[in-house]
Amino acid sequence: MKQHFIIFFMIFLAIRVEAQENSRYIAQEIKYNQFTPGEIWYDTDGNPINAHAGGILFHEGKYYWFGQIMVPGNGGSDAWVGVSCYSSTDLYNWKNLGVVLSVEDDPSHPLTRGCKIERPKVIYNASTGKFIMWWHHDIKGQGHRNAMTGIAVSEGVEGPYEFIRVFRPLAEFLPSNIPESLKDKQPDPLVYTFPFTGGSVPNHPDSLLIFKRDLHQGQMARDMTLFVDEDGAAYHIYSSEENSTLHIAELSEDYLGYTGKYIRIFPGRFMEAPALFKRGSQYYFIGSGCTGWAPNAARSAVASSIWGPWEELGNPCTGADAELTFYSQSTFILPVADTTDAFIFMADRWHPENPVEGRYVWLPVQFEGKKVALKWHDSWDLNHFKPIR
Ligand code: GAL
Repeated sequence: MKQHFIIFFMIFLAIRVEAQENSRYIAQEIKYNQFTPGEIWYDTDGNPINAHAGGILFHEGKYYWFGQIMVPGNGGSDAWVGVSCYSSTDLYNWKNLGVVLSVEDDPSHPLTRGCKIERPKVIYNASTGKFIMWWHHDIKGQGHRNAMTGIAVSEGVEGPYEFIRVFRPLAEFLPSNIPESLKDKQPDPLVYTFPFTGGSVPNHPDSLLIFKRDLHQGQMARDMTLFVDEDGAAYHIYSSEENSTLHIAELSEDYLGYTGKYIRIFPGRFMEAPALFKRGSQYYFIGSGCTGWAPNAARSAVASSIWGPWEELGNPCTGADAELTFYSQSTFILPVADTTDAFIFMADRWHPENPVEGRYVWLPVQFEGKKVALKWHDSWDLNHFKPIR
């Protein structure tokens, strides 16, 4: 009996060692030279990339991909670890640089394990030489009702990012694009009892004046991105007013707060997952509708000034599964470095029942007249952009 057990144990060990050798072998072998949207994407250590709802910063010849670290199981999209960072020089092969913003053990800290740190984005401030991370923050155990903004800062791109604060944006500031008649108007009392869920409300209640309800405590800020213009001015674009309306808010010169200037865009259109980029003199927006983790049809829009007017251009996706954004939701548009006209649409394919299994859908942005177009590719590479590089 004892001998049987020893033999069994030896066989078990041998199989394990061989499996480990194999996985090491596979890990060393993976060298990508193309994108395969929706497939598992391994980092240079052979582990699946864990950087969801992320954004990319190009700095001194390298790309840095920051994203949410998801964990297995129910609730695995909450922040149990923090924000990850990966680097790459070719956009295909990514090296894991570890956790750059970490959750805290202290239950009274806003970053306490189990809070929500969503859609982190990092930008570089050329005048202060600092790297600044913004994200959508929600307090542990309170769902999305706090809808706050978080800010952290680092001396180097690879972190660690030091927590600064979480807060509701723009308390006491009115949007600059509302008519004179609304400036002194009080919110409809119904706004305080209206059963908002974050999902879209038919016959949108714009007349409730949600931004007026939030004037003193600050505006709700959920799904978000950051955009830095060529002149160095930076903007926070976020879903506000119970997700009904997006805001574009100008950041202060140090990117650690606001100037106070902001506008409301697409009022009552319930958009989230905003991504923004500039092509020539035109600003483009791609986002989604509000159906939580379930995919829906993407939205797009164009403007000649970031302050609008923004013209909606409809769903940029075409072909099979276009109505579901190819089973994904936008997170960022990456301008390919050293080009003027090459942009990558980055999206997440969520797996809410086991968030760590979420996949990445990257597709080339195409232009058709003034419209943006997104088409599915099983695989593609940067030569796609060759004619215009
Ligand atoms: C999505 C949103 C995600 C996350 C999720 C939670 O619509 O884009 O960032 O907040 O809802 O339900």
